[in-house]
Amino acid sequence: MATSLEPSKKTAARSCSKARGSPRWTSSSPAMRSHQRPPHLQQEPCSRSWETASIFNVDGESWKFQRQMLHSILNNEELQNHMMTTLKLKMESTLFRILDDYCSSRTGAEVDMQDVAKMFMFDNICLWVLGFDPGYLCVDGRSKNFSCGKAFEEIEEGIIYRHIVPKGVWEFQKRFEIGSEKKISLSTKVLDEFLYNAVKIKKQEMMHKDEQRQHHDMLTQWLVADHQSPDKFLRDIAFTLISAGRDTLSSTLSLLLWLVATHPDVEGKILGEIERVMAVMTRTVRGTSRFLICKDDLNELVYLHAAIYETLRLYPPLPFEHRCATEADVLPSGHKVHKGMRMLFSMYSMGRMEETWGKDCMDFKPERWISDEGNIIHVPSQKFMTFLTGPRTCLGKAMSFMLLKFMVSSILWNYKFEMVEGHVVKPTPSMVLSMKDGLKMRVSKRNL
Ligand code: HEM
Repeated sequence: MATSLEPSKKTAARSCSKARGSPRWTSSSPAMRSHQRPPHLQQEPCSRSWETASIFNVDGESWKFQRQMLHSILNNEELQNHMMTTLKLKMESTLFRILDDYCSSRTGAEVDMQDVAKMFMFDNICLWVLGFDPGYLCVDGRSKNFSCGKAFEEIEEGIIYRHIVPKGVWEFQKRFEIGSEKKISLSTKVLDEFLYNAVKIKKQEMMHKDEQRQHHDMLTQWLVADHQSPDKFLRDIAFTLISAGRDTLSSTLSLLLWLVATHPDVEGKILGEIERVMAVMTRTVRGTSRFLICKDDLNELVYLHAAIYETLRLYPPLPFEHRCATEADVLPSGHKVHKGMRMLFSMYSMGRMEETWGKDCMDFKPERWISDEGNIIHVPSQKFMTFLTGPRTCLGKAMSFMLLKFMVSSILWNYKFEMVEGHVVKPTPSMVLSMKDGLKMRVSKRNL
């Protein structure tokens, strides 16, 4: 299978550039990592510009408040149990049925697993954040118009464009609603309609609280803790959580399926581990379910955990980050940063640097994450930057591992994926790492 997703080691080299418009730094230097989030480097709302007041775009007290609230919501065990239950249902009722359909097709039909992963994650994340499943991935007719997912993508691509062209250009386009700014504006309208409607329904549900029906979704939990939040703010919270979870999880899921399909040795080790864990665990009875490992036993899947880490090292779903200096500073590398200077740093490059990861830095090698004793090696976040480092580190990391391990172990145990001959996997320029022409695979049932 051909791939152009592999960069040369040269792309990991440091670079410093004065971009058109405002001065800008681009770095992947390891020396910089210890300095990634000093007090002087702040979020830059103007160019992140989702035009929301959500956690990604704010600093100070507002950020602190949102971080505390989201920390407690995302770590709530009831929510996590609810997520696992609904995920399992969705896999059984939709994902597995669709894959079964492809398996039974005599012509060996191709399936774009990236598309499937995107719709599948979007439905799930809406269920967890808003409390309802929009049903984009459906068995009959395979999928309906994925308008909301497309709207998220249009906005993300538009924001990348804002990083590339001088500020004046996109501001001009925005003013006259042309080019990529027109797409952002139209997509924002689509999402506004969807999200405001969800907020309205949620508020009505809360007013006529049905004691019989438990609502575990994140928006309900937010409203229980802070029932005075205005609609616009709730819309922003929902937008943030959906974009934080949907893109990152679907990107990791599809990239991992691709890596496993192209590394049969890794596939064999993942399956071997699942089998071993099932043999010693008594909680799931073999043969009774297509879901083999229950939540409490996911910790036993060390090799799979390492394979996910390795996927995220080589292919961070958010491949670069952006900060703005609020004061002049000197970086550990000796480079001067002026007040107002924008800094881009590449997690994609940092995950592939020979001086950090060794000579085999470009190889997909889950073993590098496992100690001689068979445990996961702790790698400091300054070295492994995929979830960022410092006070703004990702709040969904533990949850992501739980969900990914459950999904990947269940999917791989039941199905075998092979790449469609000649399909080239190549990246698309966006805030989220994804494959330009999708992930064309053939799927077959495993003979268990
Ligand atoms: C593989 C999965 C994931 C990866 C690689 C990832 C990565 C990241 C990164 C790089 C940031 C920093 C963004 C920035 O400051 O610009 C971040 C922040 C955040 N992530 Fe994740 N994320 C993942 C999954 C999730 C999930 C599932 C959730 C929850 C639904 C989540 C919630 C958040 C939140 C709330 C923040 C903001 C933290 C703050 O600013 O204080 N993430 N994530």
